[in-house]
Amino acid sequence: MLSWLALSVACAAVAAQQIPIIQSTPASAELPAQNDKPLVNSSALQDHISGDRLMERAKKMFEIAKLGEDEYNHPTRVIGSLGHLGTLNYIYSTILELGEYYSISNQSFPAVSGNIFESRLVLGDEVPKSAAPMGLTPATKDKEPVHGKLVLVKNEGCVSTDYPAEVTGNIAFIQRGTCPFGTKSELAGRAGALAAVVYNYEKGGVQGTLGTPSEYHVATFGLSGEEAEPIIKKLENKEYVDSIAYIDAEVKSILTVNIVAQTTQGDPDNCVMLGAHSDSVAEGPGINDDGSGTMSLLEVATQLTKYSVKNCVRFAWWAGEEEGLLGSDYYVASLSKEENQKIRLFMDYDMMASPNFAYQVYNATNAANPVGSEELRNLYVDWYEEQGLNYTFIPFDGRSDYDGFIRNGIPGGGIATGAEGVKTKEEEAMFGGSAGDWYDPCYHQLCDGVGNVNETAWVVNTKLIAHSVATYAASLKDFPKRSQFSVSSTYTDTVKYHGHKLRI
Ligand SMILES: *[C@@H]1O[C@H](CO)[C@@H](O)[C@H](O)[C@H]1NC(C)=O
Ligand SMILES: *[C@@H]1O[C@H](CO)[C@@H](O)[C@H](O)[C@H]1NC(C)=O
Ligand SMILES: *[C@@H]1O[C@H](CO)[C@@H](O)[C@H](O)[C@H]1NC(C)=O
Ligand SMILES: *[C@@H]1O[C@H](CO)[C@@H](O)[C@H](O)[C@H]1NC(C)=O
Ligand SMILES: *[C@@H]1O[C@H](CO)[C@@H](O)[C@H](O)[C@H]1NC(C)=O
Ligand SMILES: [Zn+2]
Repeated sequence: MLSWLALSVACAAVAAQQIPIIQSTPASAELPAQNDKPLVNSSALQDHISGDRLMERAKKMFEIAKLGEDEYNHPTRVIGSLGHLGTLNYIYSTILELGEYYSISNQSFPAVSGNIFESRLVLGDEVPKSAAPMGLTPATKDKEPVHGKLVLVKNEGCVSTDYPAEVTGNIAFIQRGTCPFGTKSELAGRAGALAAVVYNYEKGGVQGTLGTPSEYHVATFGLSGEEAEPIIKKLENKEYVDSIAYIDAEVKSILTVNIVAQTTQGDPDNCVMLGAHSDSVAEGPGINDDGSGTMSLLEVATQLTKYSVKNCVRFAWWAGEEEGLLGSDYYVASLSKEENQKIRLFMDYDMMASPNFAYQVYNATNAANPVGSEELRNLYVDWYEEQGLNYTFIPFDGRSDYDGFIRNGIPGGGIATGAEGVKTKEEEAMFGGSAGDWYDPCYHQLCDGVGNVNETAWVVNTKLIAHSVATYAASLKDFPKRSQFSVSSTYTDTVKYHGHKLRI
């Protein structure tokens, strides 16, 4: 799942260039014909889900993440790393072994990958604790510290006239709001700033991303509202605030791959689609985020082969989610209108096993999203209720790979177990765990390893994934027909994120 502040920045990174999808023909043909198999049903498919098998996969995935150690000094599955390539091979070979039940395709696409090695910010005589370099920021000039006067930018720094002449050769201090961080950084760069600091208009830091790289971007930090306040006072009183900014970072363009596996049986004009993301952040191995969803899908795809399906089932493992939903955006953008219409719904499974979990259902409604989204939401709700489990609704606000589908008229939804949000007292009573802590205390950190999953939650949610697949693979008769293709404007206007980081 993307982090809170980086919302829709990186989607422009996906260039329009088309790269052919490579189809592979499975080798083995020894499996029994589909027609000999019973039609899938929910309870049977759920019964095949086992915690032992999931935990086996988790250990395997951690070993794969270790392939990233040479380059990153710790396990990671970030795009471009050997840990991610290993993950792709693992997914691909797992599906390939299932024989002719699936046809697999690789969709490669261009992505930008940022790596921040070191950073420092000094404002006056303070080293602000909340200072955080933005995702995809360039380095400071020559990867050396730059030094200048801190200059307060007018309004929210969204037009060039907000930037006073004295920004040239100095460091711009800009309020968050109205336009994306990338726009502010670019305008600061065009005005001749050496670096920029975007401070929050509310409490808390700004974990943002600049999104699509621009030659005018300058090294850019986010800063919390609390730490900005005394500095704004000084600047308004015309006091001189001497500053030093330093970022050593690189932004590189790479090719990475979405893997899509579709049942060879089932009506290909009516597809049930589900996805998880194959990549992690650079900081850690990502066993919960989103190793958990990746492995849940592998396990459901494996167990599904015991049955026949009426509707086609299409599994996707997206790459570049952590850079701003790159893979899923690219995939949806590359669908023809006809192909788009064949996808009856998309189900997103990102972070299935947070250690301090809540059973969260995206509050996707038909009023704000393509029709069918609410029926999917209700399928999850009904299931948790049948199991006697509690659940909560969480905002459907663009933080994961469903975003591109919703924007392109495809009904969607999903479940999650929580990232860096704080568990409430009420939720402690509902789910156990501990109030006051993050749902995933290792979110986007090195400690997101094998010990960072709650097996109980993981099994429960993998069974629910199995339920969703079995239900719709067997019948879509009660599910709304696709309405005419249209981008949902309510959604587009209100969505706050594009992936895990704020973009605005
Ligand atoms: C589900 O499938 C299993 C295995 O084919 C079968 O034994 C069972 O009766 C089915 N259950 C329902 C409710 O159809
Ligand atoms: C697809 O990608 C996987 C994972 O990188 C790789 O192992 C496989 O060889 C590729 N298949 C084709 C047909 O290119
Ligand atoms: C779910 O979304 C609907 C429509 O946006 C809203 O009216 C409702 O309050 C939301 N429910 C929760 C519990 O967030
Ligand atoms: C559901 O939440 C209530 C508190 O709201 C709690 O008493 C109950 O035990 C919870 N149920 C389960 C299965 O955890
Ligand atoms: C998973 O969560 C449940 C409920 O909070 C708890 O009882 C159990 O000990 C947890 N298991 C692990 C492995 O953390
Ligand atoms: Zn994430």
